Amino acid sequence: MDTAAGYAAMLELVMGLPEQLAEAGTRCLPAGIPGRRGWSTVVVVGMGGSAISGDIARSLMLDSCAVPVISCRDYDIPAAVTKRTLLVALSYSGNTEETLSAYRQAVGTGCRRVVVTSGGELARLARAEHDPVIAVPSGIPPRAALGYLLGSLLPVLEHAGLGEFRGQLDEAVGLLAARRDAWRRRAVTLAARLVDRLPLVLSTSRLLDCAADRWRCQLNENAKVICHTSRLPEHNHNEVVGMGRPAELAQRTVIIGLLERETHPRTSLRLRHVLAIARDGYEQAVRLRAEGRSPLARVLSLSMLGDLVSVELARLTGVDPMPVRRIDKLKRRLARARRE
Ligand code: F6R
Repeated sequence: MDTAAGYAAMLELVMGLPEQLAEAGTRCLPAGIPGRRGWSTVVVVGMGGSAISGDIARSLMLDSCAVPVISCRDYDIPAAVTKRTLLVALSYSGNTEETLSAYRQAVGTGCRRVVVTSGGELARLARAEHDPVIAVPSGIPPRAALGYLLGSLLPVLEHAGLGEFRGQLDEAVGLLAARRDAWRRRAVTLAARLVDRLPLVLSTSRLLDCAADRWRCQLNENAKVICHTSRLPEHNHNEVVGMGRPAELAQRTVIIGLLERETHPRTSLRLRHVLAIARDGYEQAVRLRAEGRSPLARVLSLSMLGDLVSVELARLTGVDPMPVRRIDKLKRRLARARRE
């Protein structure tokens, strides 16, 4: 695939987020998905483009559900996993070694497990364990399957009595479909400001922490650039001191402040002060506000805008957004090292 074809393919995938969410949301859950019970914890296991769905679900539940949600991005599951844990393993490919390792450990704990994947070893293992498997369509890059993965995860959590997401999903689908063309035009302008610059994405709420992370991962993998993220108010207790240095870097840094209606008024004020400090020495700053009513619509509105910026930045810099050769190479090298 050449660069132009890669751009067209990734743009189509990114623009198709509402359709993916809608499609995933209308599928029936497989038999065996656990129902409401006295859960002690929810653990979402996954890496990279699969893990972000768990982060979004976690941030939705932080404010609405008494059961703590732990995101596990590693080989080992946390000690909090017990028989009263619902563990969801998310791996688009089904072949990610950290996720496979964590899933294998989970089997030994007797926790309730659900797998979301397009196939691979994870699907095979889960079927052997008689765990429910939600199969998502295969053949696209994992990071471009956000709608399938998140749209599968939320109904599982709802079925388990851990939240009500149906209405939020419907609102998000409608909003993203209605606003995507305008966001794309906005993304073209924003991407032009990021050429040869370091993006610094500042989130101002727990919900937007995931949107900021999604911006970073999509800028890394689609546009093939480094991106830094930071969180307010925490930023004001450490990173603020280092702002502006090294000066050469600050001069080439564009600050992107993400805001939403639940941003605490004091945090909003903090962002204003941070941007005032940045007027001295930083390249420039922009403030972006989430759209939508529900938390899901709000977090996805800024995530989709970030996805579009990453694809437009790839186009402007002549980069093919589709391949992630370094990730593939690392996975191959690690697989070889296991066989040796
Ligand atoms: C590639 C991507 C990666 C993968 C990660 C884990 O598009 O986004 O971050 O998501 O390497 O692989 P999966 O998702 O297949 O478990």
